[in-house]
Amino acid sequence: MGMVSNNILIELEQVSFAYAPLRPVLRDLDFILEKGEHVSLLGANGSGKTTLFHLIMGLLMHYSGSLRVFGEERRVRKDFDEVRRRIGLLFQDSDDQLFSPTVAEDIAFGPFNLGKSREDVLWIVKETLAVLGLEGFEDRVTYKLSGGEKRLVALGTVLAMRPEVLLLDEPVIGLDEEHRNRFVNILKESNLSYIIISHDHDFLEEVTNKRYLLGGGRLQGA
Ligand SMILES: Nc1ncnc2c1ncn2[C@@H]1O[C@H](COP(=O)(O)OP(=O)(O)O)[C@@H](O)[C@H]1O
Ligand SMILES: [Mg+2]
Repeated sequence: MGMVSNNILIELEQVSFAYAPLRPVLRDLDFILEKGEHVSLLGANGSGKTTLFHLIMGLLMHYSGSLRVFGEERRVRKDFDEVRRRIGLLFQDSDDQLFSPTVAEDIAFGPFNLGKSREDVLWIVKETLAVLGLEGFEDRVTYKLSGGEKRLVALGTVLAMRPEVLLLDEPVIGLDEEHRNRFVNILKESNLSYIIISHDHDFLEEVTNKRYLLGGGRLQGA
C-alpha cells in the first residue's frame, strides 16, 4: 500500500459500467471514500446509485477503469471475498438480504460463515437484536415481519458481520419514527465509515457530512 493511500478505503478511477452495450450507467466515474467519512449519495431514480454499490461489492463485474478497495485492485470474483467480509451492504430490498426461516438464523448466518463458535454467535444475535430494539425477536418468522422490521433485521445481518464500512441503500424507508431514530443513533455511535443512498434529507442531515450527486454516470461533489 502506498504511503498516501492509508486512509483511502474505496477508490474508483474512470470507472464505466453498462448492463447493455451502448447504454452506460456509469461513465468515467471517480470516487474516493476515506476512513471515517460519512457520505450521502444522491441522484434521480435510475441514475446508477445501486449499481455503484453493487460494483464495489463485486456483485457486478466487467467494469472498465480502476476499482481499489482496502488498497488492492479488485476485479475478479475472488478479489471480493475480503471486500465482502469488511464492507456491509444493506440491500435496497430487504427480501434480497433475508433468506432464513427465522430472525436468529438470518443474523447468525454471517458470523457462522466467518467461523465463529456457537456461543459467540448466540451472543452476537442477542446483542445485535438489543442494539436494534428487537429484543425477543429470535424466533420470529422472517417473511412475516413488517417492512420496517425487515429493514432492521436486514441491518442486523450486516452489523453482525462487524464490518468496517457500511453501504446503505435507502435504509430508512418504511421505518417509523422510533426505529428511524434508533437507526440514526446506531450510525452516530458507531465509528464506521459509510455511504448512504437516501432521499430523506432530514436523515442525511443527521448522519452524513459530505454529499455526492450522481448524474449522467458521474459524481459531483457538493
Ligand atoms: N440488472 C439490470 N439489467 C439491466 N438494467 C439494469 C439492471 N439493474 C439496473 N438497471 C438499469 O440501470 C440503471 C441504474 O439503475 P440503478 O443503479 O438501480 O439506479 P438507482 O439505484 O440510482 O435508482 C437504470 O436505468 C436501471 O433500469
Ligand atoms: Mg437504487
